[in-house]
Amino acid sequence: MGTVLRVVGLIEKKRRGQELTEREIEFLIDGYMKGRVAEYQMAALLMAFCLAGMSASEALALTKAMLRAAKPLELRDVPGQKLDKHSSGGVGDKVSLVLAPLAAAMGLKVPMLSGRGLGHTGGTLDKLSSIPGLRTELSPHQMKAQLRDVGLFMAGQTEELAPVDRRLYALRDATATVASVGLIASSIMSKKLAEDLDALVLDVKVGSGAFAQSLPEARALAALMVQIGARMGLPTVAVITDMSEPLGRAVGNALEVKEALSALRGRASEDLMEVTLTLTAYMLHLADALSAEQPPQRLSAHVLKRYKDECMDYIEHGDAFARLLRMVDAQGGDAEALLNPSLLPRAEHVEPVEAPEEGYLQALDAYWVGQAALLLGAGRDRIDASVDVAAGLILAAKPPDELKKGQPLAMLHTNDPALLGPAKEAFLEGVRIGQRPPAPRRLVHEVLLSPQG
Ligand code: URA
Repeated sequence: MGTVLRVVGLIEKKRRGQELTEREIEFLIDGYMKGRVAEYQMAALLMAFCLAGMSASEALALTKAMLRAAKPLELRDVPGQKLDKHSSGGVGDKVSLVLAPLAAAMGLKVPMLSGRGLGHTGGTLDKLSSIPGLRTELSPHQMKAQLRDVGLFMAGQTEELAPVDRRLYALRDATATVASVGLIASSIMSKKLAEDLDALVLDVKVGSGAFAQSLPEARALAALMVQIGARMGLPTVAVITDMSEPLGRAVGNALEVKEALSALRGRASEDLMEVTLTLTAYMLHLADALSAEQPPQRLSAHVLKRYKDECMDYIEHGDAFARLLRMVDAQGGDAEALLNPSLLPRAEHVEPVEAPEEGYLQALDAYWVGQAALLLGAGRDRIDASVDVAAGLILAAKPPDELKKGQPLAMLHTNDPALLGPAKEAFLEGVRIGQRPPAPRRLVHEVLLSPQG
């Protein structure tokens, strides 16, 4: 059969809901990278995956095919245990900026490859780009040297490390095919497997601000990624955390960097610290389990607290903050701006959104808060668009705060005052005020371990 016919036949097979084999998926991805599968055929295949669903075997095969086209990092000769954390994406999620230097200060090696934000979700690479001078395009040689000397780097995925994902992600963005559990799992895991890690912690977000809107969906995504990790020999733990409202108070790139700096100095919102410390605790536990040649466990409240207390020691003694300074310095950034955050980019226009009535703030929907930040210029609606790193918002109230009418709910930051009106409207869509305080928010829903763990 000719290549064109075979490609069309495979798209049709998937469209009819049949499972593609590992060889067929490898043939399609290899053909796409070599120009034998056209962009429109790949778009049709992605849509067929979205509509007909993807089995775990297909997601694993896609991950392997994506990885086969990559030139992974080789970190074997960097001494120490290499662990990373990756989030499935949320609003106000600045966890990586706190966790990576903290974990490095505690002795782990953290080779962190991050992405740009898309839609209402933020990306670590955009947040980092608000630090003047900071380079995030590092060569594999620089990554390795910095991992050895500083214990961490935070950089963008290079063409070599994630060649298929770079193209597929842009195509998915332009064809409404991002929101598929199988496609998200293979996109994330192919990049993490290219980091040559010893173990991985995943933060799978659930709620209105996340790809997974419900707990069953988040569980399916988490289970699939943990299963792919296990099949590929990468011990993986997935922690499902809440994204029904933003994490912390800042949403927007430079604003989130400032909040992360405060957190590294021991001043942070409780929700941000709870999620950051839980994920760091699981990284430390995975490293301990590997050293002891034991499978990882779900941590009891008592053991989790012990790890978190240890983390807080490193924050309170300034080691985590100092490690971020070293990383920024090594990557050519202005460490002075971290010591004096007023040097970070600032928006020209700052205006409040006021409470329309009195009562308890019952909900602050992460999707709408993310939309408001996007409208202010903090995000992009196409993967190739640019962002205004100074734009975003700071929450002045969070559930379950009691409000007076007219009290500021948030301060909006932008360089274009024409954006304030639409952003306020979007923000207020996500506000629910009632006469009773809401039920307490559960931040950590579930922890999933590799099948052998
Ligand atoms: N993050 C990724 O890296 N890939 C996806 O598909 C979604 C979120």
